[in-house]
Formats: sequence, C-alpha cells, structure tokens
Amino acid sequence: MPAKSAVETDTRVEAGDTVGPLLRGVGVLRRLTEAGGTLSPSALERATGLARSTVDRITATLARMDYVRLDGRDVVLAPRVMELGNAYLAALRLPELLGAHADALADELDESVSLAVADLDGIRFIHQATRRRAMSVSFRIGDLLPAERTAPGALFATEWKQPDWARWRTRRATDPTDAAFPAVPPRRPQAEGPADAPLPDSAFVQRVERARRDGWAVDDQLIEPGLVAVSVPVRDPHTGRLACVASVVSHTSRHSAADLRGGLLPRLRTAVTAMETELRTAPPPRPGPPPSGLATWTTASKHQLGRDFVESLARGLTVPTAFGEGRAALSLSDVARATGLARATARRALLTHEHLGLVQALPDRTFTLTPRVLDLGFPPLSRTTLPRLAEPHLRALATRLHEPTALAVLTADGKEIQYTAGAGASRVLTVHITVGARLPAAQTSLGRVLLADAGAPLPPALAEVRAQGYALVDEELESGLRSIAVPVRDRASRAVAALNVATHAARRTLEDCLHDVLPALRETAAHIESDLHTASRFTPIPTS
Ligand code: PHB
Repeated sequence: MPAKSAVETDTRVEAGDTVGPLLRGVGVLRRLTEAGGTLSPSALERATGLARSTVDRITATLARMDYVRLDGRDVVLAPRVMELGNAYLAALRLPELLGAHADALADELDESVSLAVADLDGIRFIHQATRRRAMSVSFRIGDLLPAERTAPGALFATEWKQPDWARWRTRRATDPTDAAFPAVPPRRPQAEGPADAPLPDSAFVQRVERARRDGWAVDDQLIEPGLVAVSVPVRDPHTGRLACVASVVSHTSRHSAADLRGGLLPRLRTAVTAMETELRTAPPPRPGPPPSGLATWTTASKHQLGRDFVESLARGLTVPTAFGEGRAALSLSDVARATGLARATARRALLTHEHLGLVQALPDRTFTLTPRVLDLGFPPLSRTTLPRLAEPHLRALATRLHEPTALAVLTADGKEIQYTAGAGASRVLTVHITVGARLPAAQTSLGRVLLADAGAPLPPALAEVRAQGYALVDEELESGLRSIAVPVRDRASRAVAALNVATHAARRTLEDCLHDVLPALRETAAHIESDLHTASRFTPIPTS
C-alpha cells in the first residue's frame, strides 16, 4: 500500500475544525484513483482502514453524486468525478491557453509534448499531447512524479526555498522506493544496474544548478531505461515566475539525450516563446455563472437515502466545483454563495480541503485549488473512450427496455457504420451485436442519424431525420427488424456517435417505439453526453 502523503498526516488544522466524513470520502476517492479506478468494497476497507459499514455509506453517497458506480461487486470511478479536476484546470487556465501550442509542437516533431506544474516536491501533468510508441510508460493528466526523476522537476526546484529542500530530503529518506508516486516504476536499489540506479541527493542538486544556469533541463532515463525528455520553463508574464514547464519526450531509439539538446530544444524554445506571448496577450478570464444552489439537492438525497447518505461528505465535495475559469481565488463568502452552503459549513469544508492539501489559503484571505485535486479520479478517467463511457448506460437501457441497444460511429468514408459498444437483452429472440461489425450507413437508423448531421445539403429523408432528431428504420434492412436511433453529441454539438434500440415488429408497434423507446433512448443519450462533455473538457476522448 502506498505511504500516506505528508499532507494526509499533517496536523496543523485542528481536528475539531475538519469534517470527518469528508476526510474519509476523499480518502476513498484517492485509493480508487491509485488502484486505476476500481476496487471491491473489501479492498477499499483494507486500503482505507475504515469499517465496512463506513465504506458502504461513503460509496452510496459517492454513487448518488455520480462520482462512482456500483458495478456488480466493484466500486468504479465514474466520469462525473472529473468535474473536480476540471474546476482546478479551468481556474488555472494554462491548459486552455497553452494546450493547442503543445499539440501543434507534438504534431510538428511527431513526439509527445507535455505541460507540468509544480506540486510540492513533485511535478504534475496538466496536459499531454501523446505520440508515445509502445516502448515506454506514458503519463496521464494528473499523474504525479517525483521532481528529481524528471526534467521539469529540476527547473521547478530552481525556485525552491530551504523548507522545500527539507521536505524533499525527508521524503527521499522516508520513501526510498517512491511508493508515494504510483505512476512511476519504483526506485531500485543501486546494485540492479546503472540505468535505473537511484541517484544520490547531490546529483539532483547539481542538475538544479545546471537548470538554473542553462534555462532548460534534460531527463536522461531517470524514470525508466529508454525514456528521455527535454524541458523549458514557461514564465508567468506578470510575476516572472514559472507558470508551468513544457517538455518534449522521446525514446533513446529515436533521440539520444545529446540530440534532444541539438535537435529538439530549439523548436521547443520557439514554442515556449509563443506560449509566453499567449499568456501575455490572453483576454481576461470569463467567469461563468457560479454553479448556484449545489447544496440544495443534498437535503432531498438525505430524505431518500436516509442513513446511507452522508450529507456532510456530499456538501464538502461541492466546494471545489465553486472554482473555475475567472474564479481561481474565492473568499469564504464566495464559496458559500456559489455552493448554497451555510458559511460555517463552507468554512469547515474549506479547512478540511486545506488539511488534505486540495485547497490553499492565500494571504488575502481567499482560497485556491491545488493541483492535488487531480488526485481525485483524473488520471484513470482521462484515458477513457466513448464506448467505455457509454457501456454502463447501454446496460441500464437494455435492462430497462428488455431490448438490445448499441452504439456506433460512421467509418472514415461515411459509407458504413461500425458498432463500438452494445448491451444485449435477456430475451430469447434478440438481435445480436458484434463490436467491430459494419453495416451500410444509409440503410440503418444509426447511420441515418449520423449522415443527417453532415453539413452538406441533405436529401429530404435525412433532412427529416435531422429535424426530428431520430431515425426509425422499419423492416427495411431485415423483415421484422425495427430500429430507432438518436445522435450522441460532443461538446461542440457534433454527432460523434449514434445510439439505437432494436426490436422486433411483433414485439412493439411503431407507436410503442415512439412513445416508449424514443424517450428512454433520448434520456440515455443525454447521460452519455453528460459524461462525455465532463470527460472531454481538457483531454480528447476517442470516439471508438
Ligand atoms: C512526460 O511528459 O511524460 C515526461 C516529461 C518530462 C519527463 C518525463 C516524462 O522528465
């Protein structure tokens, strides 16, 4: 089991000021994240040290918030939990302003490019433009790495003060295998060979001095053999301090550490100059409306679930969502207003989050989110796909209607549809869906809703599909087969997939399809879209 972080055992905030259920609920989300997103209740019991009844009440509450799903015997992180990390990333603004520059550099070099921020004595990724081949580990948004085993860490440490160095030395001594960093391979004993031998503390001190002198840094296989990176700091134009660090990551089979400097560094520097210009000329953030009245639904949930709903946990977890673009630093009153919580409740929640290292109190009596918020589910969920997001919703729909349901995308030439996910019904006579199978787009309900979304002038039948928002194919493809489909739209409102229910003409009339199936299909599409929009706010989610 990974060592508890220093923050979790910190006792600066008086125990009486913190909210116990919120501490325990955040602990459950962290353990699930470290485990890759799924744990059984008994594994959660062991990982958290909590009683089973407590684990059950916490997971029931998190399930009510759509932050986890109870899937058979397992507790599984659900995409909605990414709204916490999204609040941090939106408040930070760097992914929004610099992400496209990082992506363009990755395309130009055909290498991975990342953006990282400092997180105490670690670095944490806030953007990844991944071109990584199968040869090496690839990090996700939210992954935390020990500063001394990375190129960005040497740059961030040029700003460390004496207490930062002291914290780092203590961590190196108390966690000799880097167990607190589940994203990296463990640090190994010296005897195992030069490539992954642990370096003495003095080696990092020297790398930091070089980084200070050169203004850039390299990682020559500090994480694992083969993985190399070169990094340049992106400075905040207003303070001159490091806002984040941009890195190009490669493999020794393509670039030695020496060619990183000669070949890639000049192009990285050009990109960083453009990033700094972007920060200098960016319009001020546009604060959206604060998410008002978040806390009111908790009362209703308490009435419905009773003892199984831990209201103080649900209320406490609404606090991070008060932050966002243009809402990076909030006062206690701002947080109370945005969440609908009483001031005393908001204050205790903020102190609890501060104790957990998720919120930092600023000298002007405002509060800000820390990168540690990304520990709450972000890394595993940021690598999901639309079919994976959709599957639980497809299963729920198939169970509700007792009919098979499927998700499909259009092939690149637009001529066919390809199934990407499906859920069967338990009827004897049922339509079988094979993921990967293709059908002619124009003859299927799934294809028609996707074709109807094309910009070009549409034939009348497709124009009608577009206007009504669904397609119904009645025994055209196969005698007896009746299929109805609706689009699944991305954040830009493009139909990226279609969702259908197939039935038999003998089982449901056309009327039944419109009155019973269509509303359920639309509701399911809305759930899938809600998950997709949350998950894809700061990272692309593949549609197949
Ligand atoms: C990465 O983006 O994966 C990365 C960046 C810098 C490093 C190591 C890995 O030093």
